[in-house]
Amino acid sequence: MCGIVGYVGPDQAVPVIVEGLTQLEYRGYDSAGLGVLTARGPKIVRAVGRVRDLEAKLPKRLSSTIGIGHTRWATHGPATQANAHPHQSDDGRILLVHNGIIDNAAQLRARLVAEGIEFASDTDTEALAHLIARSQASTLEEQVLDALSQVSGTFAIAVVDSTQADRIVVARRGSPLVLGVGDHEMFVASDPAAIVRHTSSVVHLDDGECAVVTADSFRTFTAESSDTGKQPQTVDAEAIAAEIGEHASFMHKEMFEQPESLRRMLSGRLDHRFATVRLDGLGLDPRDLRSFKRVKAIGCGSAYYIGQLGASLIEDLARIPADAEPASEFRYRNPIIEPDTLYVAVSQSGETADTLFAVQEIQRKGGHVVGLVNVVGSSIARACGGGIYLHAGPEVSVASTKVLTHMGVGFAMLAVLLGRVRDLSHSDGARILAGLERIPDQVREILDREAEIGAVADVVADATSVFFIGRVRGYPVAREGAQKLKEISYLHAEAYPSSELKHGPLALISAEMPTVAIVPDDELVDRNIGALHEVSARQGPLVVVTHEAVEIDVEVARIDVPKNERELDPLLMTVPLQLLAHQVATRLGRDIDRPRNLAKSVTVE
Ligand code: F6R
Repeated sequence: MCGIVGYVGPDQAVPVIVEGLTQLEYRGYDSAGLGVLTARGPKIVRAVGRVRDLEAKLPKRLSSTIGIGHTRWATHGPATQANAHPHQSDDGRILLVHNGIIDNAAQLRARLVAEGIEFASDTDTEALAHLIARSQASTLEEQVLDALSQVSGTFAIAVVDSTQADRIVVARRGSPLVLGVGDHEMFVASDPAAIVRHTSSVVHLDDGECAVVTADSFRTFTAESSDTGKQPQTVDAEAIAAEIGEHASFMHKEMFEQPESLRRMLSGRLDHRFATVRLDGLGLDPRDLRSFKRVKAIGCGSAYYIGQLGASLIEDLARIPADAEPASEFRYRNPIIEPDTLYVAVSQSGETADTLFAVQEIQRKGGHVVGLVNVVGSSIARACGGGIYLHAGPEVSVASTKVLTHMGVGFAMLAVLLGRVRDLSHSDGARILAGLERIPDQVREILDREAEIGAVADVVADATSVFFIGRVRGYPVAREGAQKLKEISYLHAEAYPSSELKHGPLALISAEMPTVAIVPDDELVDRNIGALHEVSARQGPLVVVTHEAVEIDVEVARIDVPKNERELDPLLMTVPLQLLAHQVATRLGRDIDRPRNLAKSVTVE
């Protein structure tokens, strides 16, 4: 999604902004721009493409100590230079960058056009710059509040004013925004990653909050309160400032971090004595845990698929009815919120707008929701209050890998916790804990087979369309495998329950359509092998993710994964599919960390 960076202080603003935008580029990258206040007035530079395209257009001498920048992921209007941010008021005074969507932009535009303003872009943002410039209030912060009172929608904005050139004003409603407090310098950003090279002292703004920052001070406020008194918190700068190192892509780096990050996630959380887990962050005691009659996971995209996998783990281990639903659908269908359901909001970024709004909807109706979130202090984590932090470290690649595996482990821990206050036996609890402890090494074993998986990738890379099939616990694995492949290779990929093949999709099977099948060594193995026969009989090429002990009597390309407990096997089977997608996308020459049309962390609806 779009990124915002701003700087005010003694140093040159342009290099700080460009460097911050580069850190945010993975969030949205169809265009970029910056606006600074110079001795000769405001100056805006914008470019379609990457931050490096913006850099190439920057004049050699652009001296300024205050400015704002933006990477854009188009929502209103195509990716053109005119639509790139910052946008400027017609009198030239106000420069503004914006993440999010202004819902009443069309009405505002019509009103401003009727008042004689000529718009220079197709964006929803520009109206806001004009509104601020037309406010009769005296300070920039008051003008921003005045303008925002006329706006509906979600946003994070940063604004500078050439007539009040000592300050940046920012405001947040629905889209993330932080301040970075330095030594006689101040930063603003939509993500701490953009500024942690300069300061680890960060203020997270809440929804409805604004701030005015100068080089030496900051004040947070809302429409109702002139000072909300926010204090900075220290963030782990090293962890946030992830570097790609020797890897070909961030996705590759992140896949290979899994053994270590998973070990870290498990550390201190397994209670072998009582064969349970410690998840104090949930804030739930055994009586609370026993009171839940149902569990519902909500999340978007891959987080939803892992939610589905998690729901099946909870049903298996805790014997509580559990299911998963896309947060984006849930929030729009007036869901019935049950007081004895435990809702679990699943999100890497903790900023996905649909998931955040679903959390708010649950809470509005009295439901109990906990977070399964990676980014500490993110909006969803804060909204939920209680939850399980995933501790996977920063994930830069748009295609999520390591965090999904962490989510799966998080669900397994939750399932053990819920199970052990019901009828999961000590020995079964202990069996799962031992299985969880084996996961980091088993993931390592799978990653070590990257080259073998590369050979299999040829079967897939030559196709234009690929089927993924799995049954019961294997079905979410198939869905996530298809998702990973389509995201970064742009091949059409579709997941089906194996049991559904003969109810329609078999018509598509041919020598040109490979099928990737999930065939764990469990009680359904014979049924799954039956599905392989169905495909093979129609000349469909087969790639099978399976266990060594499984005998397959049709021709397939095998990917064997180490055997764990039957409940945990599906999670391990997602890992070779990450590698497979990466290998296929590499063969096809795709830009793996920046797949077209996608963004990390979708902070608009
Ligand atoms: C897929 C992917 C997306 C995200 C989804 C939710 O690789 O990364 O499908 O899973 O956009 O994002 P978070 O987890 O940040 O809420």
